[in-house]
Amino acid sequence: MYKLIAFDAYGTLFDVYSMGKLAEDLFPGNGQVFALMWRDRQIEYTRLVTMSDPNPGGSKYYLPFWELTVRSLRYVCKRMNLNLSPDHEKQLMDQYAKLTGFEDSLHVLKTIKNKGIATAILSNGSREMLATVVESNGLTAYLDQVVTVEDVRLFKTAPQAYELLLKAFPVKKEEVLFVSSNAWDALAAKWFGFDVFWVNRLGHPFEEIGERPDYEGGSLSKVLEVI
Ligand code: LAC
Repeated sequence: MYKLIAFDAYGTLFDVYSMGKLAEDLFPGNGQVFALMWRDRQIEYTRLVTMSDPNPGGSKYYLPFWELTVRSLRYVCKRMNLNLSPDHEKQLMDQYAKLTGFEDSLHVLKTIKNKGIATAILSNGSREMLATVVESNGLTAYLDQVVTVEDVRLFKTAPQAYELLLKAFPVKKEEVLFVSSNAWDALAAKWFGFDVFWVNRLGHPFEEIGERPDYEGGSLSKVLEVI
């Protein structure tokens, strides 16, 4: 029944929290907290940029996601009193550029493609960083399109960001299944009008506002059970 299965990138196909291991080597005793705070600040910056100028032509405060990721890294190190040398910054950002995919990412995309259903990424990520991470994980052949909010210069959860999928593919809202491990992203996509699958690997509670996702599963592979 779905004509397009669209995936969030960071945290959903690619393991952002794996950054904690390198961070732990660089900042012993602080790796996990650091990784969580970095992710939170990165998303906080996307919201700040978007909400402060939610102009359909794009936010005048827009900076590419890569840049927001670097800036949030610097902020969190200052906030936690961690010394971020240029070499540490390079190591962390090099690893971010080539994040490893979750073990089932490739299998899931391949299976969906084999069923004749279109596949896409819809991400806050900038075009170049997405191309690098998709390529380094060998996913290029199994994605029809990698759609980035760079085209609207507004980050998720702006409706214009989700709408990009309807411009990129000849599908109706109800023919799209959007898959995200971020509860906030799943909720906003649901509000936009997509059916959503929430990948809840850590058994977290869903948000306390809005509607429940249509589907929930503990791994990406569970998506294959509902299509
Ligand atoms: C993305 C972030 C939000 O890939 O995970 O869009």
